Amino acid sequence: MSEKTLYAWAGGREAFARWFDAFYDLVEQDELLAPMFGGTVTTEHRRNVTTWWSEVMGGPADYTEHEGGYERMLAKHRDLGITSEQRLRFVTLLSHAADVAELPDDPEFRAAIMGYAEWGTRLAVHNSQRDAETAAHAPVPRWGWGVAPPYEG
Ligand code: HEM
Repeated sequence: MSEKTLYAWAGGREAFARWFDAFYDLVEQDELLAPMFGGTVTTEHRRNVTTWWSEVMGGPADYTEHEGGYERMLAKHRDLGITSEQRLRFVTLLSHAADVAELPDDPEFRAAIMGYAEWGTRLAVHNSQRDAETAAHAPVPRWGWGVAPPYEG
């Protein structure tokens, strides 16, 4: 069981699409985050971010193969100047949206996806600052269960 990817555990791409639709609907209502997206988060953005997260969580490597991979993601955050307050709101809304989208709510799964959210958003803050020193090339990460895989007692 612990070999199952987080992607499969969630319910595949359809589950991630549900999550990010719920998330960006919340972002559009949020006074700190909506302006970063010009008030509306496009269908294309929702689809691309779903593709990114699906790859990270063990799904097909479609963002790397078809959307420009790590380098495109990095370029998209350049000079956004994300503040720590915006980062915290972003993570909070991700967690809220996981409930709205009815993702699996077992502690192991939620800890794993929110662990990536903490890690990724902190990198996004760093990479979005003017003159940030960034890794020009890197693989798209592949996240796992960490220290607490599903317990088979
Ligand atoms: C785990 C953390 C994060 C991940 C995995 C992530 C992922 C991505 C990806 C893959 C894109 C490019 C989408 C495309 O290919 O079109 C993107 C764009 C963007 N991200 Fe993030 N992001 C993260 C954190 C953040 C945070 C904390 C913010 C702001 C509070 C943010 C704001 C944006 C914005 C505004 C864009 C669109 C830029 C544009 O289209 O010009 N991201 N993100």
